[in-house]
Amino acid sequence: MDLNAALEKRRTFGIISHPDAGKTTLTEKLLLFGGAIQEAGAVKSNKIKKTATSDFMEIERQRGISVATSVLAFNYRSKKINILDTPGHKDFAEDTFRTLTAVDSVIVVIDVAKGVEEQTEKLVAVCRMRNIPMIVFINKLDREGKDAFDLLDEVEQKLKLKVCPLSFPIGMGYDFKGIYNLYEKNINLFSGDQKQHIADTVAIDDLADAKLEEHIGEQAAADLRENIELVEEVYPTFDRAEYLNGTIQPVFFGSALNNFGVRELLDCFIEIAPSPLPKNAEERRVDPNEKDFTGFVFKIHANMDPKHRDRLAFVKIVSGTFERNKPYLHVRHNKKLKFSSPNAFFAEKKEIIDISYAGDIVGLHDTGNFKIGDTLTSGEILNYRGIPSFSPEHFRYINNADPMKAKQLNKGIDQLMDEGVAQLFTLHINNRKVIGTVGALQYEVIQYRLEHEYGAKCTYENFPVHKACWIEADENNPEFQEFKRVKQKFLALDKQNQLVFLADSSFSLQMTQQKYPSIKFHFTSEYAE
Ligand code: G4P
Repeated sequence: MDLNAALEKRRTFGIISHPDAGKTTLTEKLLLFGGAIQEAGAVKSNKIKKTATSDFMEIERQRGISVATSVLAFNYRSKKINILDTPGHKDFAEDTFRTLTAVDSVIVVIDVAKGVEEQTEKLVAVCRMRNIPMIVFINKLDREGKDAFDLLDEVEQKLKLKVCPLSFPIGMGYDFKGIYNLYEKNINLFSGDQKQHIADTVAIDDLADAKLEEHIGEQAAADLRENIELVEEVYPTFDRAEYLNGTIQPVFFGSALNNFGVRELLDCFIEIAPSPLPKNAEERRVDPNEKDFTGFVFKIHANMDPKHRDRLAFVKIVSGTFERNKPYLHVRHNKKLKFSSPNAFFAEKKEIIDISYAGDIVGLHDTGNFKIGDTLTSGEILNYRGIPSFSPEHFRYINNADPMKAKQLNKGIDQLMDEGVAQLFTLHINNRKVIGTVGALQYEVIQYRLEHEYGAKCTYENFPVHKACWIEADENNPEFQEFKRVKQKFLALDKQNQLVFLADSSFSLQMTQQKYPSIKFHFTSEYAE
């Protein structure tokens, strides 16, 4: 296939939400529409349930499922759709942030009753920072929830978005009658006590038309006219360019579980969502239609079989085509590598493929060559950036519990960090290792995996840190020299050998910032972006 034609067809995106808002259900419904699965329930949830904290088998089982659902691809109306799965569990938020570097757009799912929740706020903030085009889907309209206008206000205020409703609910919960689609100018009516079916789709070019009353009754018709008038007065009209540059966000209402509003969402999505976008490397901007292959690793998944320590590296193809058995340059190692069995992903399977195009994800078997953020190219020296680390929330010393297995422990820690399971800091003062994680669950995952995959045992010890800050300063600056001397107890190196200040409280961080005004304290590891 011609590269430009392939690009035009591709839509690579992620669905983000607070756990339980309906991400898995929506994903499944999209796959059903795409004909990629035949029945609901076929896609296993990739979420780590709350009960998993001490249930290692459950974690392992979930890891297995998440390989299968990491990338779900299907064709819909001549478009090739790649959904990149993002774990909903907050302890795995870092994985989600990284996956967001590989999407070209996102759909944000919000529960109509709960409104904007914490995890959604965090994830949307990351998307906003990167100007990722976003569509909002307000879900569970079959249940009683917040008033639609209140919700739109909440989305604007909490998520700092500029919304543009493309559909609007007619009633809600018990009185839910259907959805008016401003984009297609029609109404989907729902029937049945259980509201399980789309009864009818009625084209309504003009809301003044008396047939509106026939279909939804007088009161609902009057309300709808009033609501739509307000929508048209208050909210901007949809403009694709503004959506694509991240300045407005279309909103849809529906119920994923009942299939309400899902087709409308999907139909609009494939029309307006971007095909693969250019990406900045340190050296230059790379366009997807350049014929030479470039791509980067955004996720690494360890194999389920502990005896074979091979891993699957997920590469987003940024430009050109990736071909099987062709040598590509691993830029960080300055080494050519060939891949004889690259995987492409379909609904829930992976298959060996000969060629993949920009926008697609390939899974490469890896025996320890890759770490997250690595760039592969056809030969050019190029480094994609934009996979920053955020300050972890928890910090613990990691100790070796079996002196005979120090080598295994170090290797295990190294590889798990390459996979991005957690962050490693080495203290300046005594070289002790500190593991930083987003959630407490990761410590158990690390301990379990070190033992089962590497034969090493570890224990942890609390290390009270409020926040890790990446330090930027001029080496010759006397103030920096003093800072290093005074604060040496709190200084560490991250895995990239960048200097990090581990502040023990927000007060001490503030004081330190005030005392050393010429030093910059950054809250992510990639601060130049
Ligand atoms: P997540 O991936 O965002 O965590 O959410 P998920 O799709 O698993 O949905 C969370 C719960 O919300 C599920 O119920 C799901 O059935 C329900 N749900 C999703 N969409 C809708 C909707 O449109 N209307 C209503 N009423 N419920 C919806 P559960 O009981 O937690 O799980 P399950 O046992 O049904 O799988």
